[in-house]
Amino acid sequence: MTALSTMRTLTDAFPTPFAVIDARRTIVAANQAMRDVLGEDIVDRHYTRACRRPSILDAVERAFGVGATEEAEFSENIKGRTSHFKVICSPLEVEGRAHVSLSFEDVTSSREIRAMRSDFVANVSHELKTPITSILGFVETIQGPAANDEAARNRFLSLMAREAERMNRLVHDLLSLNRVEVDEKVRPMDRVALNALVSHTAEVLQPLAEARGISLKIELPDAPCHVTGHERQLVQVLRNLAENAIAYSPSGNEVRVRLTAPAYEVALHGNGVRLIIEDDGQGIDPVHIPRLTERFYRVDSHRSREVGGTGLGLAIVKHIITRHRGRLEIKSKLGIGSRFTAILPADTSAP
Ligand SMILES: Nc1ncnc2c1ncn2[C@@H]1O[C@H](COP(=O)(O)OP(=O)(O)O)[C@@H](O)[C@H]1O
Ligand SMILES: [Mg+2]
Repeated sequence: MTALSTMRTLTDAFPTPFAVIDARRTIVAANQAMRDVLGEDIVDRHYTRACRRPSILDAVERAFGVGATEEAEFSENIKGRTSHFKVICSPLEVEGRAHVSLSFEDVTSSREIRAMRSDFVANVSHELKTPITSILGFVETIQGPAANDEAARNRFLSLMAREAERMNRLVHDLLSLNRVEVDEKVRPMDRVALNALVSHTAEVLQPLAEARGISLKIELPDAPCHVTGHERQLVQVLRNLAENAIAYSPSGNEVRVRLTAPAYEVALHGNGVRLIIEDDGQGIDPVHIPRLTERFYRVDSHRSREVGGTGLGLAIVKHIITRHRGRLEIKSKLGIGSRFTAILPADTSAP
């Protein structure tokens, strides 16, 4: 085998994009992964014709000149998706002649995780900043213009309390979300009686429903239903879904919480129970439905804040249901109402 064919064989063995450039700046070997990125016909061509990125050209030339490994970065649209690559150019000698190897490392997913993390921090900061700014404004007013006006002072103090409660809810939901994410890989183990859980949670929610002029109806199957789960988290699912139904329905409406007896569920490949929360409220435009369980995603941020929402409720619900190996189904019609269904694997073992 000649040096060239050995080099080509080795190049083909690399799973990630890899090519070799000789001293004349011709690409003498490139594996399929590299051809997928730079083009099918790059071998035997001058490398500047295969890739015109100034950052890569610089790195290759520096590697030839300095004789040390050089790095660069670039992004490319491949099959309709933006991929980010780290480029490594290393000098190597083949039969006494200088060459440079070109290797790409796909850093798209770590970039995406970094972007998600920074989006999350930006969102949290924004959510906290709004109430803090209001509180600081109220403090200034109480210390200044309202210093001697008791009625105004009391009004501002209750506004401050409302903003502090908002921050408290946000921190509480962030901690819940974090805990659920940490637990997600661990299967919950308790045998939870859902009938009692539903009627008890509905009782707890009754004052909230009444305060908003909503009548909360519950419907339970005759026989007790059980799931293998985490009781506190299942209460959280029901609470978050019912609080939404109550919050996003006009006064005078009805919200129905229904639990169904175990039945075969195709999606679960086994028996499941359904926990259904249904309202006749404002409904949700179908374009929003796929994104509702993303953190901080809201259809109407102003309305959500007005009803005390944090934008994290459905993200928490989704994580808990996933942890329980269940499914969340969202059906909604604008102006007609919404139905959120948690389908959970049933525990049909004898008590
Ligand atoms: N029952 C519902 N009816 C109408 N819209 C809803 C309902 N439940 C959730 N939504 C929409 O989904 C968004 C996300 O819900 P959630 O994660 O609980 O956050 P929020 O704290 O805003 O309630 C809400 O802001 C609202 O726009
Ligand atoms: Mg909510």
